Amino acid sequence: MRIDVLSIFPDYLQPLDLSLIGRARRTGLLQVHTHDLRDWTHDRQRTVDDTPYGGGAGMVMRPEPWGEALDEVCRATESDQLPHLIVPGPGGTPFTQAIAHTLAGEPWLVFACGRYEGIDERVVQEYTDRMPVSVLSLGDYVLGGGEVAALAMIEAIVRLVPGVIGNADSLVEESHTGGLLEYPVYTKPPVWRGQEVPAVLRSGDHGAIADWRRQQRLERTAARRPDLATAADGLQVDAALHDLDGLQVQLAVPADAGEILTLSRACWLQEGRDHESFAIPALTDDLDQARSDLSSWRTWVVRADGRLIGSVRARQVGALWDIGRLMVAPDLQGRGLGRALLEFAEAAAPDDLTGYTLITGARSAGNLRMYRRAGYRITERSDYHGVPTVGLHKPRRSDPTI
Ligand code: ADE
Repeated sequence: MRIDVLSIFPDYLQPLDLSLIGRARRTGLLQVHTHDLRDWTHDRQRTVDDTPYGGGAGMVMRPEPWGEALDEVCRATESDQLPHLIVPGPGGTPFTQAIAHTLAGEPWLVFACGRYEGIDERVVQEYTDRMPVSVLSLGDYVLGGGEVAALAMIEAIVRLVPGVIGNADSLVEESHTGGLLEYPVYTKPPVWRGQEVPAVLRSGDHGAIADWRRQQRLERTAARRPDLATAADGLQVDAALHDLDGLQVQLAVPADAGEILTLSRACWLQEGRDHESFAIPALTDDLDQARSDLSSWRTWVVRADGRLIGSVRARQVGALWDIGRLMVAPDLQGRGLGRALLEFAEAAAPDDLTGYTLITGARSAGNLRMYRRAGYRITERSDYHGVPTVGLHKPRRSDPTI
């Protein structure tokens, strides 16, 4: 990866020689070039700013030095490649871990660090027509200029570049991965100033540790960042949770998408065989689809010792509660967990809905038996890419119309 940073205070960028980024530069994973914007001025005072049109406080950075500097810097490589231009500014899109991940996949980033009241708006306009441009904010506060923001963003991005962090595992469970904050961490000694390390972490029970950490992530996120809605939601569901044979049902979070997808593949394989077709969404969905489904459905997961063993999802369609993807790990089927999950999903329906619907394969004899026992009746027969399906309906008991 190559990173260029333009600033009127290139010395501000000296930390880019240190620690992780310094090492990535020395090992050749990263090239960093810093540039003094004033090198592209032509007057004795090396002027880069002027008063704002329309009046108002402060000074605005003139477009000419920026234009000359960016034209030259963005032509710096021999290939035809163009960089992704990043303009830090308090009025930008909030910089997030997800954006850091996207930018970590770019071969070349150019940071244009403004000062004063900002850079003449025409500069962003000019380059937007030529290359990807992102105006990004570090947070809802105003810094003296873009340099500190660029340093923070560069550090967040570069540590995600493969090879920069020795132990890639440490990227998997960190804060903001999967939309949750990190769980609390402890090291030796086991007791410090009267405070003990939680016993579960010293139990050696990896399943219990995984459950505890997940619960801590949810609680911490709900307490400190209630704006990260899925997490807070997950907690509410936990609180209202009934015990499913001693197992916990939790609202799924984005980090669960991969495991849900894997479990779906395992669970729908038999359905594919029964219907002599594998063109079934649960078998053909990819990870992007699984992730986006998490935002359009309420999805719950059941874990045992940290392992995802069951899931179900539901959403409102008109006056009905549409239930789908009811699944239990093949080795744990036949113990009533599917039925319990179905009842759980039904209980989560908003009060004003009149009934439940679901779809299954017309030849899925076991499923159909379970749904019939649970009060569902077939209301329609259809076809999905040549696979015969049936739609089932169950009225809600409190429905005054029945
Ligand atoms: N420049 C000044 N304030 C900033 C902020 N909050 N984020 C990014 N760049 C900035």
